[in-house]
Amino acid sequence: MTGYRAAIVGCGMIAGCYENLSTSEVYSHAKGYLRHRGFATLGFVDSDPARSELLAAKAGGKSFAGIEELLSGFHPDVVSVCVPDNLHFQTLEILMRSSCRPRLIFVEKPVCDTRKQLDMLLDYQERYSTPVVVNHSRRFDAMHSRIRSLLTAGDFGRPVRIHVDYYGGWRHLGVHVVDILQYFFNAPMEISGATYYCHSKYPDDPTLNVNATLAGAPVCFAGFPEACYQILDINIQCESGQIKLTDFGKRVEVLGKTVNAEQESVLVAVPGWSNAGMQSPMVKAIEVIAGYLEYGDRGVLEPYGLEQASMTMDTIWKGFEIYDARFE
Ligand SMILES: NC(=O)c1ccc[n+]([C@@H]2O[C@H](COP(=O)([O-])OP(=O)(O)OC[C@H]3O[C@@H](n4cnc5c(N)ncnc54)[C@H](O)[C@@H]3O)[C@@H](O)[C@H]2O)c1
Repeated sequence: MTGYRAAIVGCGMIAGCYENLSTSEVYSHAKGYLRHRGFATLGFVDSDPARSELLAAKAGGKSFAGIEELLSGFHPDVVSVCVPDNLHFQTLEILMRSSCRPRLIFVEKPVCDTRKQLDMLLDYQERYSTPVVVNHSRRFDAMHSRIRSLLTAGDFGRPVRIHVDYYGGWRHLGVHVVDILQYFFNAPMEISGATYYCHSKYPDDPTLNVNATLAGAPVCFAGFPEACYQILDINIQCESGQIKLTDFGKRVEVLGKTVNAEQESVLVAVPGWSNAGMQSPMVKAIEVIAGYLEYGDRGVLEPYGLEQASMTMDTIWKGFEIYDARFE
């Protein structure tokens, strides 16, 4: 498993422009590829050439003037799409329809803006045989996978109530929470209400207060103003236990129900659960990608692919539909 070529389109934060490449933690695409022994060379493109040149110099790769030049001159096996949200679809379209298309595309969340775009991507994926993996990063995290097993096994009983504090746009940031909650319970969320909370950095993507139902339990998304600080906390209260994911899923508390000496039902920390989540999920993502490049098995991509993202985006779009309907 060596000699693969990886490219990155959009050389900003998640691509790796700010990340210290010498530390052990890995969050960026560039560092993820650099750390994996399967990738020999990296190519970079940005609409601002200074940015792609900077990242190419930092990561020891080559900068290209545009996507076509990258595809025809570098022939990447995989391309990471790290441009801003509203440019994902048009970038994917160029990559998937090119005669020099890569073998796989790794795109940042949210995968696209509309249902029509997603249907087109699903069509391109089959027509041009280029699978798309979406970076819903929590799916690649070992701790989040473990929580999913706990919840789907029913060890904590049914969910009673779920509360989320989030910021930064229903689509832009809310997509992480919708995706991981639906993944945890292996079920779609039914949205019943969506109201405006505040603007986000994205003009068509306000932070909404949303009420929903998941696996029979009420879910409350409460917006928070980014001007104060960024927050992403999820609290899942089940019949026999509680899971608290705070600080963007980096801090994890798993509490189980017990009966104390006073015969009261209380929660205590469940042994064997460490407190640390989101331990470089990018490393696992790149492992999955390298595994696909080596063996060509589409099955390994299934939990991270467009079909799964489709279920997530449907819930996001339903939230906007309900929110918009208030003005009709
Ligand atoms: N999965 C995660 O946890 C996670 C975390 C952060 C960001 N993201 C996603 O990653 C994407 C990028 O976010 P970011 O924070 O790195 O943004 P950023 O603004 O730091 O970087 C975006 C880069 O894209 C470049 N760009 C803009 N238009 C371009 C074009 N047409 N062609 C090529 N390059 C272009 C910009 O010059 C910039 O360098 C967003 O979609 C965001 O939602 C995901």
